[in-house]
Amino acid sequence: MKTAITLCGSIRKGSYNEILRAHVSGRLRAAGAAVEDIDLGDYPMPIFNEDLEADHTPEAAGILAGKFAAADIIFIASPEYNSGVSPLMLNTITWISRQKQGQFRHAVFGLGAVSSGKYGAIVGIYHLRDALLKVGALVTPTLLGVGPASDAFDAEGAPREAGIQRKVDAQVRELMAFSRGGA
Ligand SMILES: Cc1cc2nc3c(=O)[nH]c(=O)nc-3n(C[C@H](O)[C@H](O)[C@H](O)COP(=O)(O)O)c2cc1C
Repeated sequence: MKTAITLCGSIRKGSYNEILRAHVSGRLRAAGAAVEDIDLGDYPMPIFNEDLEADHTPEAAGILAGKFAAADIIFIASPEYNSGVSPLMLNTITWISRQKQGQFRHAVFGLGAVSSGKYGAIVGIYHLRDALLKVGALVTPTLLGVGPASDAFDAEGAPREAGIQRKVDAQVRELMAFSRGGA
């Protein structure tokens, strides 16, 4: 069985990206993956600083790197802040990138972003994809940009728009098809 982890780059209560994360997580389960949902609030890390690395690398960095190295599929939903990657997500990736566990070389990554704007955080997703490509990750061609957030999901947390539903279908298909692990 393929293993997957899902993460959200916002730990805000009521986060729209968390709604997307939960939806894709359910879809991966339905497609047959064993999914672990990760709450980054449970993995606190200070702002990355090379001076901290020698003696103060947070335990969370090693634990998350291990989870990244072991998962066949990693789905990240993360907001766009000022056309960039959310500080939480970037800090997390930066700390993980300094571990030496092959953490970006095994999984296939799927990226999603929900924003209050109508362009669905697509600029921020490109920056997140660039950072992941830089560290050697394989990212699916389908990127899930969703917006405007306030209208995007129904009461069950499913995307309302048929076009977004099709993109979720496509991304889940790609994640299952391009990843390693069992059938
Ligand atoms: C500091 C900051 C910068 C933001 N910059 C952008 C932006 O560049 N583009 C955009 O579409 N939305 C931007 N937003 C709005 C977010 O898309 C919106 O707050 C979104 O709901 C955040 O994701 P969350 O609901 O998962 O926490 C910004 C919000 C904040 C707080």
